[in-house]
Amino acid sequence: MKRIQILKRHIQAVKVKEEVKDTLTVLDNRTGVKYELPIRENMISAKNLSTVKDSKGNITKYIDPGYLNTVSGHTRVSFVDGEQGILEYRGYSIKELAEKSTFIEVAYLLIYEDLPTIQQLEEFSKKIMNHSSLPIELRNIMSCFKNDAHPMGMFISAMSGLSTFHPEANPALAGQSCYDDPYKRDKHISNILGISPTISAAAYRHKNQKEFNNPRDGGYIENFFYMLHHEKGTDYQPHPVLVKALDVMFILHAEHGFSCSAAAVRHLASANTDVYNCIAGGAAALYGTLHGGANEAVLRMLMKIGSKANVPAFIEKVKNKEEKLMGFGHRMYKCYEIRPKIVKTIALKVFEVCGREELFDVALEIEQIALKDPYFIKRRLFPNIDLFSGVVYKAMGFPPEFCPVLFAMPRLVSWLAHWSEFLDDPNRKITRPQQVYTGHRNRKYVPQCDIKAQVKIDLEVPNTITEAQIEPSDRYMNP
Ligand code: CMC
Repeated sequence: MKRIQILKRHIQAVKVKEEVKDTLTVLDNRTGVKYELPIRENMISAKNLSTVKDSKGNITKYIDPGYLNTVSGHTRVSFVDGEQGILEYRGYSIKELAEKSTFIEVAYLLIYEDLPTIQQLEEFSKKIMNHSSLPIELRNIMSCFKNDAHPMGMFISAMSGLSTFHPEANPALAGQSCYDDPYKRDKHISNILGISPTISAAAYRHKNQKEFNNPRDGGYIENFFYMLHHEKGTDYQPHPVLVKALDVMFILHAEHGFSCSAAAVRHLASANTDVYNCIAGGAAALYGTLHGGANEAVLRMLMKIGSKANVPAFIEKVKNKEEKLMGFGHRMYKCYEIRPKIVKTIALKVFEVCGREELFDVALEIEQIALKDPYFIKRRLFPNIDLFSGVVYKAMGFPPEFCPVLFAMPRLVSWLAHWSEFLDDPNRKITRPQQVYTGHRNRKYVPQCDIKAQVKIDLEVPNTITEAQIEPSDRYMNP
């Protein structure tokens, strides 16, 4: 009897298993029509969803402001699991890379998929250094900014300006396939990586009304420090602990999947925009205070709070939605991820050289209070990389407005890696989200201004080809 029962249960289990399909059945209650949508890699395709139509034949669309649950492509660059707090660059844990690698090694890894051999690393570093000089015209352009210009505005403008020095990188001039040749692609990658510290240091020196320094041979980070701080007639040598600290900070910031800025780069690349303007666009997206500009915003918030004693009152304002707690929360992470923890360790190393930064204690107090508060617990809000990074940079002597530049410099490795990957994506298409129009229609034009001297142009289009002459198949082609 027992055996028969077991057998029956087994047959039932087999039946259920047979019925499991990688599809999603959608019953449209408006029309009574049932659709079966394939599920691939645990995703349904918005294109397949377009088979769902209302009774008038209108396609049912899919709305997702902020891309909360929308995948825009595949990537091999980094893996992020926000529930577990895992971040891997090309399969390597971020902690191990921060402990054992250098920023330039990590840059190579992110762009070319594997860690470099010693020879590859030397060649890569040499190529980067060979491209580190600022063209004189660009130097002049940068000198023309106001001295109080925000360094990110200068960084973005200089990156975009660089495109005018590289007509061979402009698909409009050099052809639509000008990036197909890997050698040419590499040249632009080295160029951007090489010139970014020079542009950043120039923006820094300009603000301090100091002459720009030319790059010199040596490590990537050492050279950056040199261009920031060298004065004529002196032999500037950066402190090795600060060099190591910035190197680790750069590793931590180098990549984060389809972040707002990497997505912006992909968006621009989808239109065949040249790589220099793609990077400028990525930097512009990063500049925002919810993304890479958050490190500056955190510092300004900490300065406004002023002392540990004022933290509880500020947190109350946050809970009342009068303030936002900068340096807290992340779209991806719903746990305390590792990067801010490593930044805290780096902070202590930097303080040993530069002295303890008082605002660090204010940030620690915020962390302590917020992590215990139901407002933050309920919303799963944890410290992000920016809570402590600005404090590290302040201790190193950087002003708040320079902090986003120190985010952009390493993150452009991510942009280049994603740009290059995107160019090779067989599913690449121009990015063009759909919209729901909610504005006026068919308004009658009533002039509001009496512009007398206006030249009138007759815009009546001569009808050279009639509708009837167009082949039916052409008629429905969208431009
Ligand atoms: N302070 C107070 N409330 C917050 C915060 C915050 N920092 N972040 C999220 N919330 C609240 C938000 O008000 C909302 O509450 P409610 O449910 O009552 O409306 C809830 O948490 C969900 O927030 P969200 O805005 O829907 O979350 P999001 O995933 O769209 O935004 C974020 C992510 C990073 C933009 C946001 O957390 C934020 O603005 N943080 C502060 C800025 C910041 O530190 N940015 C750096 C991010 S890390 C570097 C990088 O990778 O860019």
